[in-house]
Amino acid sequence: MDIAIVGCGFVADYYMTTLPNHPELRLVGVFDRDPEAAKRFAAFHGARVFETLDALLADPAIGLVLNLTNPSSHYAVSRACLEAGRHVYSEKPLAMDIGEAEHLVALAREKGLQIASAPSSVLGEAAQGLRRAIVDGAIGEPRLVYAEMEDSMVFRENYRSWRSLSGAPWPAEDEFAVGCTLEHAGYYLTWLCEFFGPVEEMTAFSAKLFPDKGTGQAPGEIANDFSIACLRFRSGPVARLTCGLAAPSDRSLHVVGTEGVLSLTDGWNAASPVYLRDTAGHWRPRVGVLGKVMRRLERGRPLKHWFGKRVPVSSSQAVVPETSSRMDFMRGPAAMAEAIRAGARAPLADAFALHVTELSIVAQSAERFPMPYRPRSTF
Ligand SMILES: NC(=O)c1ccc[n+]([C@@H]2O[C@H](COP(=O)([O-])OP(=O)(O)OC[C@H]3O[C@@H](n4cnc5c(N)ncnc54)[C@H](O)[C@@H]3O)[C@@H](O)[C@H]2O)c1
Repeated sequence: MDIAIVGCGFVADYYMTTLPNHPELRLVGVFDRDPEAAKRFAAFHGARVFETLDALLADPAIGLVLNLTNPSSHYAVSRACLEAGRHVYSEKPLAMDIGEAEHLVALAREKGLQIASAPSSVLGEAAQGLRRAIVDGAIGEPRLVYAEMEDSMVFRENYRSWRSLSGAPWPAEDEFAVGCTLEHAGYYLTWLCEFFGPVEEMTAFSAKLFPDKGTGQAPGEIANDFSIACLRFRSGPVARLTCGLAAPSDRSLHVVGTEGVLSLTDGWNAASPVYLRDTAGHWRPRVGVLGKVMRRLERGRPLKHWFGKRVPVSSSQAVVPETSSRMDFMRGPAAMAEAIRAGARAPLADAFALHVTELSIVAQSAERFPMPYRPRSTF
C-alpha cells in the first residue's frame, strides 16, 4: 500500500528505521508545516516533499496517511485526511479531547474508512508471548496487573543534545505540555485492553510534581507528570497503571493470577524477556536447590523483573531503533494496510483506539473528571 507521512519530527525517524521491515508499504511522500523539518527529513531519507497537506491529499495513490504530528495537531490533521477519503494511522493520542476523538471515529465510520492509533507494541513478540501464556492458563485466572510507565526525571537530563537519526531535536516543551500519561499510558492500556477487553470503571489520581521543568514554560503550560489509574475490566481483572517523570525508569508489567505470576521486564522492547513464577513470586526451577538459593538471595529484595521460568517469546529479525524504544513502529501501519486490503477491521482501530484515548485523557488530568469514572466508550 502507498503511504504518506505528515509530521517529520523525532518519531518519524523511528517509522523510517522500521519501514524496511514491511516491504509491502511504499512511502510516496511527506509533509511538515515546518518546511525546514520536511527538507531535512526528506533529504536524509530520499523522500519526496509535498508543499501542503492539500497537495499530499490530492495524490490519488496514497491510501493511508501516518499522522506523526504533535498531539495538539492530531485532530485537525486526521480530520482533514478522513475528509479527503484517506485511512489514518495516528500517533497517540488520537486527539487531546474526548469529544474530538469521538468525532474522528464517527467521521471514519461515516466515510467507510478506518482510523487507528499507536502504539502498536501489543503486536510485538513480547506482548504476544505474554498473551499466549495467559491464554494457555500459565497463571490460572488473571486477577491483578501492575503496570509501570516510569520514565525518570528526563527533564534533568541533557535532552537538548538529543537528536533523531535525521537530526530532529527531542521536543521537550511539547512532551512536558502534553504530559507523560498521554504520552505513555497507551503503551500498556493497549496491551491490557487487548488481553482483557474494555474497562468498566477507572479511579485515577494525577499530580504535577515538578511544575518547573527548566524549559522556561510557565507552570500553567506544564501538564501533570504523575498518575495512577486503577482499572476494573468488565471481564474481571483489575489493574494499577502508573505513569511518571519522577521515579527511576521502570517499564515492567506483572500479571498476577490464581496459579502464578507473569512478569515482563520492558514494555518498550519487543524482545523483552517474560518470566513465570509461582504465586509467592518464587521461581521453581527443575533443579530444586537453585530455587532455594534464589529464595535466600531474593529475601526482601525486589528481584521481581528478571528471573523465573522463561516464557517463549518468538525471535524476530525486524530492525528496531537503537534507543530505549526498541519497537517496530511500522508494524501498526503494516497491520492496518493488511486489514484494509482484506476488508477487515484493523487492529488498534476505531472504537478500540477511542477507548484507549479516553482512558489516557482521563488519567492524565484526573482532577477534571468525577471518580470513579465510567468510560463513555467501549469496543
Ligand atoms: N519523541 C518520541 O520519542 C516519541 C516516541 C513515540 C511516539 N511519539 C509521538 O509521536 C508524535 C510526534 O512526536 P515527535 O516527538 O516526533 O514530535 P516532534 O515535535 O519532533 O515532531 C512533530 C512534527 O510535526 C510537525 N507538525 C505539527 N503540527 C503539524 C501540522 N498541523 N501539519 C504538519 N506538520 C505538523 C512539526 O512541525 C514537527 O516537525 C507525538 O504524538 C508523540 O506522542 C514520540
